Amino acid sequence: MNRIFFTISIFIIGIVFLFVFLFDKTPTAYKKFQDSNNNYFSLCATCPPGFKLTKENKCENVNLYMQYDSPNNKGLGGLKIGLPEVRDGFSPQQMDLGRYLFFDPILSSDNKISCASCHNPELGFSDGKAKSEGMNGAVLERSAPSLWNVAYLKRLFWDARANSLEEQMQGPLFSPHEMASTSEEILKKLNLSKEYRQLFREAFGTKNEKDSIQMNEVFTAITAFETSLISLNSRYDQYAHGFANALNEKEIEGMNIFRSFVARCAECHTPPLFSNQQIAVIGSPEPNADFFDEGAQETFNDATMRGGFKVPSLRNIEKTAPYMHSGHFKTLKEAIAFYTKGRGHAVPKGENLYLHWHIWEPQLSDEEVERIHDFLKTLTDETFMPEIPKKVPSGLPIS
Ligand code: HEC
Ligand code: HEC
Repeated sequence: MNRIFFTISIFIIGIVFLFVFLFDKTPTAYKKFQDSNNNYFSLCATCPPGFKLTKENKCENVNLYMQYDSPNNKGLGGLKIGLPEVRDGFSPQQMDLGRYLFFDPILSSDNKISCASCHNPELGFSDGKAKSEGMNGAVLERSAPSLWNVAYLKRLFWDARANSLEEQMQGPLFSPHEMASTSEEILKKLNLSKEYRQLFREAFGTKNEKDSIQMNEVFTAITAFETSLISLNSRYDQYAHGFANALNEKEIEGMNIFRSFVARCAECHTPPLFSNQQIAVIGSPEPNADFFDEGAQETFNDATMRGGFKVPSLRNIEKTAPYMHSGHFKTLKEAIAFYTKGRGHAVPKGENLYLHWHIWEPQLSDEEVERIHDFLKTLTDETFMPEIPKKVPSGLPIS
């Protein structure tokens, strides 16, 4: 009895498979890319959290700091001050397409490195290394910065050499030590992908199926995604908006030291972005005695900026060790303690740097350093962490 039942079952299963095989008209190229819900890749039509969709299908950034005046109109005194101008106005589809591109190693010449290889969401969109590693293990000159809140940055890179996110990404994409691609190579690969052709049509409204993907669309989509990485809902922010219990006593003490004219941190790491976006020469140490990073001197061809770097935002700073352009400090506490070891103490002999006047001798006690440390940890907020794709449209493994 059992045997008959078994034979009939096998027969029925066989028939079903035959039908699926004969009548499934899905092109085989698509089948590989079905996601876990059996959907093909499609783009999100709603904005990421923190954005409002306009009638023109654009995502507009909204946050509580908008209720305050911009720092340009008011003094820098209180905590209730506005943020710098933000880069927004991308469509939800562009932002979502950028998310796939950011994680897809198809943009590198060996199909192994993506933006996320060095800007890992789990490490505050940084990479946990003192200096990043690119193509074939090439060690880069500097540490990978966090990408949280890059939508607010006017200049990009430690030495401020790029003026827009679009311009910035051409560094890693085309550098032989990083992703080592060319526009031709990237466009060729993307245009060969049915999935990407479809997704770019969806994001950029191209009518003709044969229209090919353009490089400026790649730049726009990745920029759109980067601007979605907004972190403005930390415990510090809740405190700044008036919820007094969001910080404990030690953290408030740390905030007051941070903002004091003794420590002077907030003169450069100005809230709410925790950067005034200026270049400052602070004389942070180089790990190797035989190398000195000129920093912004090269960008601006200005000797007074020798060893100067863009003031980094300290948001999610807890997540992005090691610290400084060189990744020299392994812990956040070491990075804070740097400021109290004496003006210019780490400047190599023979270098005559124009140290910023706010770099001085605050003589903070160990306890005060501890309190600043407590405070900086209240700047952690990853509530708007984007969804990390499990698969990318190229079908390549995510590294
Ligand atoms: C091989 C590692 C690596 C890869 C791959 C990489 N980056 Fe970076 N990224 C870095 C490093 C290192 C820096 C700092 C370099 C400097 O300042 O000179 C940086 C800087 C940046 C900055 C500037 C942030 C700031 O605060 O100024 C942005 C934005 C950025 N990368 C985005 C991207 C995007 C988008 C991609 C993919 C197209 C990408 N990165 C790929 C390592 C990498
Ligand atoms: C004169 C402006 C200035 C002042 C004042 C200042 N900083 Fe900085 N800070 C910078 C610059 C510029 C860098 C990047 C320098 C580098 O990479 O060599 C930096 C880097 C940092 C970093 C590492 C960030 C990262 O992403 O790796 C931390 C942490 C930090 N500062 C905390 C503080 C604290 C705490 C104080 C007060 C005790 C302070 N800063 C005062 C300008 C300043």
